[in-house]
Amino acid sequence: MQGTPADEAREAVVEAALGKLDLDAKARLLSGQDMWTLPALPEIGLKSLVMSDGPIGVRGVRWTADDPSIALPSPTALGAAWDPELARRAGVLLAQEARRKGVHVLLAPTVNLHRSPLGGRHFEAYSEDPHLTGWIGAGYVNGVQSGGVGTTVKHFVANDAETDRFTVNNLVSERALHELYLVPFEIIVENARPWGVMTAYNTVNGTTMTEHHHLVNEILRGDWGFDGINVSDWTAARSTVAAIEGGLDIAMPGPETVYGAPLAQAVRDGRVDESKVDDAVRNVLRLAARVGILDGAEPVVAQPPATVDGEALAREIARRSFVLVRNENAALPLRPGTVALSGAAARDARVLGGGSATVFPSRIVSPLDGLTAALPEGSVTYAVGADPNEELAVADKGFGLSAVCRNAEGTVIGTGSAPNGQLQWMGDDLPEGVTHDTLHTVDLTGTFTPRESGPHTFGIKGLGAFTLTVDGTTYYDDVQRPDKEDPFEAFFGAPVERARVDLTAGETYEVSLSHVVTLPGGIPLKVVGFALAHQDPQRDPDELIAEAVAAARAADTAVVVVATTERVESEGFDRKNLQLPGRQDDLVRAVAAANPNTVVVVNSGSPVELPWRDEVAAVLIGWFPGQEGGAALADVLTGAHEPGGRLPTTWGSLDDAPVTQVIPADGELAYTEDVFIGYRAWEKEGRTPSYAFGHGLGYTDWTYESIEVRGMTATVRVRNSGERAGREVVQVYAAPVERDAERPARVLAGFAAVEAGPGESAEVVVELLRSAFEIWDESANSWSLVPGSYKVQAGRSIADRRVGVTIEV
Ligand code: BGC
Repeated sequence: MQGTPADEAREAVVEAALGKLDLDAKARLLSGQDMWTLPALPEIGLKSLVMSDGPIGVRGVRWTADDPSIALPSPTALGAAWDPELARRAGVLLAQEARRKGVHVLLAPTVNLHRSPLGGRHFEAYSEDPHLTGWIGAGYVNGVQSGGVGTTVKHFVANDAETDRFTVNNLVSERALHELYLVPFEIIVENARPWGVMTAYNTVNGTTMTEHHHLVNEILRGDWGFDGINVSDWTAARSTVAAIEGGLDIAMPGPETVYGAPLAQAVRDGRVDESKVDDAVRNVLRLAARVGILDGAEPVVAQPPATVDGEALAREIARRSFVLVRNENAALPLRPGTVALSGAAARDARVLGGGSATVFPSRIVSPLDGLTAALPEGSVTYAVGADPNEELAVADKGFGLSAVCRNAEGTVIGTGSAPNGQLQWMGDDLPEGVTHDTLHTVDLTGTFTPRESGPHTFGIKGLGAFTLTVDGTTYYDDVQRPDKEDPFEAFFGAPVERARVDLTAGETYEVSLSHVVTLPGGIPLKVVGFALAHQDPQRDPDELIAEAVAAARAADTAVVVVATTERVESEGFDRKNLQLPGRQDDLVRAVAAANPNTVVVVNSGSPVELPWRDEVAAVLIGWFPGQEGGAALADVLTGAHEPGGRLPTTWGSLDDAPVTQVIPADGELAYTEDVFIGYRAWEKEGRTPSYAFGHGLGYTDWTYESIEVRGMTATVRVRNSGERAGREVVQVYAAPVERDAERPARVLAGFAAVEAGPGESAEVVVELLRSAFEIWDESANSWSLVPGSYKVQAGRSIADRRVGVTIEV
């Protein structure tokens, strides 16, 4: 907060405004007034502060497809680009989206670590390496905030898995906290001065994160000088006194939280010192001043930056993120000829991960769309091959629905739009003329025109009383009850099958799902949320594979898109295994046997097992590629652009993966691996993964010519020894020569990218991380340099180091 004259001028406005507020107003400001906003305080010229998820788009305050957003590739993809500048540009676009939607603070980025590949929100974090995570996160935060929009770096800290996330007590040593989990937050605080942090649901070493005096007040604010707001994860604040003492500024969502009236009362009772409330209010007012909603304060960014083309950037990030992990006989770029495309996700692409990170793009370019547009007419055929969607999905293609609201007498009181079968009205965001007091029943009603004939399955997601009618017949008229005590079960739970009806392609049928609204307990706000789910007729899986094989045999190249589903990878639960769901492995094997020129595109946000990887010509990891994913895929497959990604996380089988424990025992999850996660653990165990950290091929070759280290600076000379221009991510690793079982064998000490034309050489300068030569000394509570000889090597991945030099530290 001390700093520029503009900072000081804002501080003065903040102090003056604080001085005018009474205790009740102050306590009220610290408590959400609904799902996404804080109350306005007109007496000091403060407007209502609006927050929204994050991180691959800005959803806005409405959870619906009729308020669309640009959907960028998943954070794992951004991690794979190894490019903080690209992350900064993503942030600038997101600030533009936030401004368009009236959002002041983006609930992002997610900088927890890829501790285990089973983590359900793995797709939402950048990497297993804390520094790579921190650098990408810092670029992102700098970008968003350069657009005048705040960020909340989340989830502070050690929210690395989903099982029992509200209650789990993660036992993490101070050393692992400092060497791994705190690192991204610290890098971002130091290099991007975030205006906010979100404290996690989980407990760390016995104290829940929304009350963690040590980690929040002593480390984050004390040691690092963080001056932004600390907002609770949604419903994570549990107690008034402990939260305010633990440095929590804002309890979300509202209207009922542990702050507001209970906080004012605690001050009056003498349980909380009013100065603590003032500290929190000061932080909130500083944020308001920064984003320009406090009268008299000049916002940090008065003029929004130049407009960014969101679709073009989404496409660029996607192709820069794709990781080509295998390319035998130069299978890619595609040679001229015919392409047999298969895989359900080639037609219905999975472009983003589920949960709070969901946004609704206005269009999605699937691989089928992208390749059909890019290749000569008639050269692409499509067959489903295998459909991993064994469950019903939100009713979408072929449905035309609207939401009719009725009062207790059955009179229509309003109508809302329903772009698909998912209805989610948060707080007072109800259709015009409708209030929670008058709303009794919602009829999601309209028509369905199937694209295939046969038995169609319909289902219901949500809790409470429902009536499902298809083509005049009522198939369900009963109450759905929760099977687990997660207050978000209605959002993240699975749909339940309720009807199977024979329908004919092209005919139009009446469909309706009526729901008697009961507001969910356990969530302190009013949400009307449920979904009509649907599944097309299921065909014989062997027949589907045979069809794809026949097409592959007749084509010059076979491209198979394999994917995870929303039930496999999402917020709210962890994965049970790393296998591709359904018959997708069988499909790849059968297609590869029929066509030696088989290219597999992996459409998943986190690692999956690729047991056939040595049987196919090429494997391209495409993550959740965002709304333009199919167009970017065509750019890369045709060779218009090279795939730019390098793995930000080791990919291997679950059997070999060193850290797999995500299920707490008696409420506790011990991080027994301590500082050994990711490549640090693979190397310690002496295991070889399928694809190493940092691995990724482009369309040219690189020769590493020399490395020189002076002080903490490495200079690496590389030559593009291939036939086309390219971009190389030069990675520098540091390894103590004397092996020490307590320390990782080697760590990423820095990286830099270089571009060069064919035959050209280029030099990159990489600043080495001091912490690569240090350990966190628990007894001294500080970093400690470990003197000795270190091998500093540069290369294409942690397993492919090309040049090195030994230095003395
Ligand atoms: C998630 C946060 C998210 C919040 C609001 C929580 O369940 O953990 O990441 O920002 O919901 O949607």
